[in-house]
Amino acid sequence: MTGTRRSVNVGELGFDGGAHILVNLAIHQCQRGQSIEVTGTHPDLLGGLATWCRQHGHRLRTATSPGANEATVLVTRGTGPMTSVADGNHALEHRNDDVVADCAKPEWGLAARGAAVEAGGPTPRFRLDHRDEIWTDRAEALYHQAAANQWDPDIAVDWSAPLSPDPLVEAAVVQVMTFLIENEQAALVVPTRFLGQVHPHFREIQQVLAVTIADEARHIDVFTRRAHLTGAPIGTSSVGGRLSLQTLLDEPDFATAAFLLSVMGEGTFLTLLTFLEHHAPDPLTRNIATLVRRDESRHVSFAMSHLSRHMHDDRNLASRLARSAEERHDQLRVTAGLNDEVFDALVLLAAGSTTPRNIAKGWVAVQHLLTDMNDSRRHRLARLGFPTADATRLAELHTRNFM
Ligand SMILES: [Fe+2]
Ligand SMILES: [Fe+2]
Repeated sequence: MTGTRRSVNVGELGFDGGAHILVNLAIHQCQRGQSIEVTGTHPDLLGGLATWCRQHGHRLRTATSPGANEATVLVTRGTGPMTSVADGNHALEHRNDDVVADCAKPEWGLAARGAAVEAGGPTPRFRLDHRDEIWTDRAEALYHQAAANQWDPDIAVDWSAPLSPDPLVEAAVVQVMTFLIENEQAALVVPTRFLGQVHPHFREIQQVLAVTIADEARHIDVFTRRAHLTGAPIGTSSVGGRLSLQTLLDEPDFATAAFLLSVMGEGTFLTLLTFLEHHAPDPLTRNIATLVRRDESRHVSFAMSHLSRHMHDDRNLASRLARSAEERHDQLRVTAGLNDEVFDALVLLAAGSTTPRNIAKGWVAVQHLLTDMNDSRRHRLARLGFPTADATRLAELHTRNFM
């Protein structure tokens, strides 16, 4: 150093052999307008440095030759062509890692948050680029929790566990699996559609959606394997069920889709999975229900947390969400809701046999299931901030298809 001035000795290195790396590192320790001394013995040090400075917006000020083979050159830091993702306008020294912006700029594109972004280049359009539309501070923790809790169906599930010896009860389980698969398909497709619309600046939101998609793919896998376990044909898929799911696929708004799919639908499924954990006739199906429910509770938590934040900041959102539930109800009014095969299969599954006494028991269990589903929806809506009367009304409007 000369006084407070930094210096760098590049030795024998030329600008054709890596000298620029050492000079670049040194100059980025300075503020704009400050200088560094560059010393070296390469015969073309001065020429290489002059070209490099021109290309990078720095000023080469003076050159001295303290020794026969050595040159010392003064370089003043100029305005480089870089801007920081943190504020989009300033040079490298204003880099501010991991500050989440209110609005992510198109020119930041795929750049890592906090990176210095060279000016120019593509300006991809990510529709979900406003923090308030998608953000929750819980996203990072939920992603790490999900990544740590991924399970392998070949290890976590004992596929050789005994099934119900009653073929009619087994057929009921298969019908419920068939129903679950198409609902899981909706839960896979909806976040997949939004994932590509989230600006990469909000990487935690992308990560939660990505791991959710992986969860749903695994759910489809285990329910499909369970359905095919005996080799018997799988169950039926009703028009009403598919129409109900289609309304989720057609929803273009992120908040509304999260509300209908995750708060109302997956929230209701948590109760259904708990029912299967208690009432499925075989340990394998009970085990799958437990594993899937754990994943689903994260999906519901994510939606609850970003929607709570969003509703707090946007006073119109509650009425928009309420309207979406009402419109969906009106749209599905003409459909039969839960198909008879699924309803009867749930009763038979909980009965465990076809004796009238057990069917009566299964019937009561399914009535309790419907009540529990409604109660849990009402509580969830109240937790989001809906007044009690609205929470009660909206909970009851939810599709009879459950999802
Ligand atoms: Fe799922
Ligand atoms: Fe889910």
